[in-house]
Amino acid sequence: MDDGWEQSAGAWIASIGDKGDWGREHVLDPVMLERISAGQFERALDIGCGEGRFCRLLKAKGIPVVGIDPTETLLAQARKRDPGGNYQLGRAETLPFSNAIFDLVVSYLTLIDITDFRLGLQEMVRVLRPNGTLLIANLNSFVTSCPNGWVKDEDGRYLHYRVDRYLEEFPEWVEWSGIRIVNWHRPLAAYMRELLALGLTLTYFDEPSPRSGDADQQRRYRRVPWFMVMEWRAAGAPST
Ligand SMILES: C[S@@+](CC[C@H](N)C(=O)[O-])C[C@H]1O[C@@H](n2cnc3c(N)ncnc32)[C@H](O)[C@@H]1O
Repeated sequence: MDDGWEQSAGAWIASIGDKGDWGREHVLDPVMLERISAGQFERALDIGCGEGRFCRLLKAKGIPVVGIDPTETLLAQARKRDPGGNYQLGRAETLPFSNAIFDLVVSYLTLIDITDFRLGLQEMVRVLRPNGTLLIANLNSFVTSCPNGWVKDEDGRYLHYRVDRYLEEFPEWVEWSGIRIVNWHRPLAAYMRELLALGLTLTYFDEPSPRSGDADQQRRYRRVPWFMVMEWRAAGAPST
């Protein structure tokens, strides 16, 4: 199924810029980078690395990283911006790596993009070493149930945010700033059930608030649970 990513790649690169978009810069990056600093990682995999921004941040922290993404134009940009980097074409559902070789797997706003997220999560866990870390940032399921769900009054004031069809799973085309892509909605329980069934242990959870940025925008981001960040630990090695 066409998901719009190849056609949207140019607009995506422009919207992400150097620092990431507003939500990444002011809400998610501070939490994600704190989680990275709280651990000790030798080899990381960034699932759906896009144009490679988070790989570059991991490298700046001294962590060797492989980025994988199915969108060729985004990968070309990642390679251009980091010529020494390791960026590979591929999908979460069929990772081209052997078992248990990464101690950190990152999914930064990609679960919403992965068509078969159950297979994707199985693959992420397969390539994790015993006790390895799976760090996930995702759009909050309240928000994905109704993309563009703000209801405004006739003067343009934000009244409230709609939630609908929450317990279903469905893809939806979303559009902003010249980008038109498919996002998947799944209830939080669908993700949690799958992660628990894979034998992972939840070690961190947050619905982060903005830490900085324009005051009006911060207020809006505090009214609706926009994002979630989860960190899971893989099971340890079986005792012999
Ligand atoms: C919202 S972007 C996030 C990019 C990057 N992680 C970031 O935060 O800037 C989602 C990315 O997922 C990629 N993607 C789409 N389907 C995928 C799949 N099945 N497996 C892995 N990545 C996928 C897209 O090409 C896109 O680069």
